[in-house]
Amino acid sequence: MIPAKTIDDILSAARVEEVIEDFVTLKRRGVNMMGLCPFHDEKTPSFTVSPAKGIYKCFGCGKSGTSVGFIMEHEHLSYPEALKYLANKYNITVEEKEVSPEDRAVMQLTDALYIVNNFAAEHFTKNLLETDEGKAVGLSYFKERGFRQHTLDQWQLGFAMSSGKAFTSLALEKQYNMEHLQKLGLSTQYESDFFKSRVIFPIHNLSGKIVAFAGRMLSKDKNQPKYLNSPESEIYNKRKILYGFYFAKTAIRKADECIVVEGYTDVLTLYQGGVENVVASSGTSFTVDQIRLIKRFTDNIKIIYDGDPAGIKAALRGLDLVLAENMDVRLVLLPKDEDPDSFFKKSGQDAFTKYLDENAKDFIDFKTTLLLAEAGNDPIKRSHVLRDIVSSIALIPDAIKRAMYVKQTSSKMEIEEAILIAEVEKDLPEIKKGTATTIS
Ligand code: GTP
Ligand code: MN
Repeated sequence: MIPAKTIDDILSAARVEEVIEDFVTLKRRGVNMMGLCPFHDEKTPSFTVSPAKGIYKCFGCGKSGTSVGFIMEHEHLSYPEALKYLANKYNITVEEKEVSPEDRAVMQLTDALYIVNNFAAEHFTKNLLETDEGKAVGLSYFKERGFRQHTLDQWQLGFAMSSGKAFTSLALEKQYNMEHLQKLGLSTQYESDFFKSRVIFPIHNLSGKIVAFAGRMLSKDKNQPKYLNSPESEIYNKRKILYGFYFAKTAIRKADECIVVEGYTDVLTLYQGGVENVVASSGTSFTVDQIRLIKRFTDNIKIIYDGDPAGIKAALRGLDLVLAENMDVRLVLLPKDEDPDSFFKKSGQDAFTKYLDENAKDFIDFKTTLLLAEAGNDPIKRSHVLRDIVSSIALIPDAIKRAMYVKQTSSKMEIEEAILIAEVEKDLPEIKKGTATTIS
């Protein structure tokens, strides 16, 4: 914890214009200063800083706040992290005296784990780029898939050798701790390597630290999982991590949209091809935590599903929570048998983006279309679909949105609006009853 006195010192030292000028060129305009807003694309300045009031405000996108707020927003830092950033800028010593011994132990452990993962990542990239096996097997695989050297470097892609102990032996030789190696799942309980003969995708957290790895097998061995992932640990909670978020966050903010795909390679292909606001849920279904993470950057999510309807129905079940979070989610189904990686390569960036724009549906529309196609003309199945859609609509917190969806569903399913309204009303939580409004 940062002592209150230190916080006061930091806040009074951090002059808003000085803090912002590290990132934005400001010109004096009367009592204020103006520049191009760093939070949205603009050609004429609407970003205003008031040294007198100690605040900034953008008249284009509406963002506003203090110097600390600016650093939190711009650098994606938490409040204490932003304070520390400013303390550093103004040479103010932060003594976090109140940290308990337990807290300190946790901090030391997590730091140690990051260091081990870093070592592992360096080892894997060396394997890939400098060993005969790595070059012949791993590098040629990545090249075949169209990944350029810059992409390999930026994402720290690597290779785990086929020999069962190379990594673990080296780590022990370099005095890394076996307990840490096992905690991170890099070494097995038998002290051999967890990843063998696989290409390696490091998974970064929001500040770019490596928290886990995914390894893709290269053989066609049906007895092995295609992807192996590090286990959860003190630094890796898979429900809270989205693959690629660290690299995508600036683009997500700029585009005011986050594209979510299923696979690691989908992220890499899109990113390399210029669609940088892309992340992957990495095999698990979407969680509330992941949605909240995205929500810190944008309200707009576009989820792309591979063209294989069987998998989608399962995914849809988890997605009702997006409605409850009041996010604007749009979903896109790719043509049959395509995934974002293959489809992007086939169509190129422009056609790909155009396809997304033309085929993105809101959640209710997407779900209705999908379920109706399955139900066909069977009245019983259709009534189940209707029930399902009604319960989804009832989850939407916003009454106006609910009313719009009722209208849309009523025309799509050819059901009287009044009946739908009554049904939605039944499903609403007590406190919202009477608000499933019609729109005339
Ligand atoms: P490529 O075949 O390399 O293009 O990968 P992909 O991403 O297209 O694979 P796929 O569509 O089969 O899987 C999508 C995502 O699901 C992957 O990127 C992984 O995150 C996850 N996944 C697939 N297979 C496995 C598996 O066997 N184990 C685990 N844990 N995750 C998997
Ligand atoms: Mn693929």
